[in-house]
Amino acid sequence: MSTGHDRPSIAVVGSVNMDLVVEVPRMPTPGETVQGLDVAFHPGGKGANQAVAAARLGADVSLYGKVGDDPFGVRLLDAIRGSGVDAGHVEIEDGTASGLASIWVDAAGENAIVLAAGANGSVDTKYVERHLDRISEADVLLLQLEIPLETVDFLLRELPAPRPLVILDPAPAQDLSSLPLLKIDILTPNAHELTIIARSREAGTAAQHLLDSGVTDVVVTLGADGAEWHTSGRSPRRFPAPHVDAIDTTAAGDAFNGALAWALPGRSLEEAIPVAIAAGALATTIRGAQPSLPTREGLDAFLREERAGRDAPEL
Ligand code: RIB
Repeated sequence: MSTGHDRPSIAVVGSVNMDLVVEVPRMPTPGETVQGLDVAFHPGGKGANQAVAAARLGADVSLYGKVGDDPFGVRLLDAIRGSGVDAGHVEIEDGTASGLASIWVDAAGENAIVLAAGANGSVDTKYVERHLDRISEADVLLLQLEIPLETVDFLLRELPAPRPLVILDPAPAQDLSSLPLLKIDILTPNAHELTIIARSREAGTAAQHLLDSGVTDVVVTLGADGAEWHTSGRSPRRFPAPHVDAIDTTAAGDAFNGALAWALPGRSLEEAIPVAIAAGALATTIRGAQPSLPTREGLDAFLREERAGRDAPEL
């Protein structure tokens, strides 16, 4: 493991999607047709986005996953490599389409997503077994839930000691009770995901349930309200978000997770969370998933402006 925090090594095992983004004046109700506005294809997928987010900030990132043997697969790999991510272990799945996310973004910048897993569904335990040694060498392992849950479960169980710091973004939300939660250092649900995972409507109760089940820290992302950190034996701590004019919230969570993984080695969670919140906020000011993820220079400049106005973290 490397020790310096400026270029930590991060392994991301997760999804790679092509995003078909349609701007809508408002979300349609069931059975209704709404006239769409702009349409665009952007590279996305929570795994790829988080890998790109960490790489743009300066981490040494390897992505593990699969794309289909279609033209989207080629474009997705180009985009990932173009952002400085090592995509050498991303496999092309024969006879399979790449993951596709159909995303509607409304006038308030909120989104709704329908996901067709495609090749992401073939990221199986055998694939992980082939790459386990290299994955285990990273400082940080970043996971999401757009690949089969069985694969995430297998990977967590097979990680040898000493293992990387494990961050799991439980999105899209699923029942996590089968996972070895003791192997998860930091869980980063949004408020909606938290209540689904812990089967409780009250955030404090839900987070405490996860801590009691073995997770070390729960960081609940709250969009424009920042994030709340829950850990055993301490009161929850709220971190505010800087004000931005959000036009598209897609991948704000990915910017948060990628920045958290980049910032953590060498920093405390208390220091890393405000940096991750700033990256997430900045991502909402640009349309699309990967196009919106901030660079180190962009994040530095944003934090400098913020510091001029109020208390903001120094990188
Ligand atoms: O988190 C945003 C991502 O979720 C999009 O890029 C889309 O691919 C979906 O997976």
